[in-house]
Amino acid sequence: MRTVILVYSRRGRSLAMARLLSAKCGAEIREINCPRYDGPLGRLRVWGDIITRRLPEISVTPDIGPADLLIVGAPVWAGQLAAPLRRALQQAERLPPIVGVFVTRRRMGFSTLIDPDLEALTKAGATPNKPMPLLTLLRPEHHVERARKGIEVFCKTLAPLLERRVAPALTLSFRAA
Ligand SMILES: Cc1cc2nc3c(=O)[nH]c(=O)nc-3n(C[C@H](O)[C@H](O)[C@H](O)COP(=O)(O)O)c2cc1C
Repeated sequence: MRTVILVYSRRGRSLAMARLLSAKCGAEIREINCPRYDGPLGRLRVWGDIITRRLPEISVTPDIGPADLLIVGAPVWAGQLAAPLRRALQQAERLPPIVGVFVTRRRMGFSTLIDPDLEALTKAGATPNKPMPLLTLLRPEHHVERARKGIEVFCKTLAPLLERRVAPALTLSFRAA
């Protein structure tokens, strides 16, 4: 059983959370790269794309390879999953079942905006009839010790799914833009 954590992180918090999760559940991490949002102009482009609903070009290196299950994570931007993760999920030709989602955000709010994202992920998930396990890490919880507890509970929720094989291995590859 090979589980991969697919994460986008612009400022490093979601990646730090992915590392804690990886240490806890043993899944490998694959990072989504989005050069459009790097550098000093990146933040402006993020907001521009939010307003125009544009999804940026992304890549995942190294490729995810054969994976049985996927955990996805990203920051919340304007109430939704950050655009690079949404792009990755749309762009992937085939996806292993998604078993859980984690997000980092500054504060609670705009939750209803993230619901359609989660509904879509649940439909493509390992247990389409159950709500997608979601771990929300607010800014104070980004502190390693506080986050650890939330991640422990999240891993316990995912454990039954991670332990049994729910699908044959699939290769996740990304189309060239
Ligand atoms: C463009 C933008 C929009 C954001 N929108 C929200 C939001 O709607 N709600 C929220 O709680 N935090 C919001 N944040 C804060 C980020 O979600 C938070 O800082 C996150 O932990 C950053 O993750 P990263 O370090 O992995 O990039 C926003 C940040 C940016 C840059």
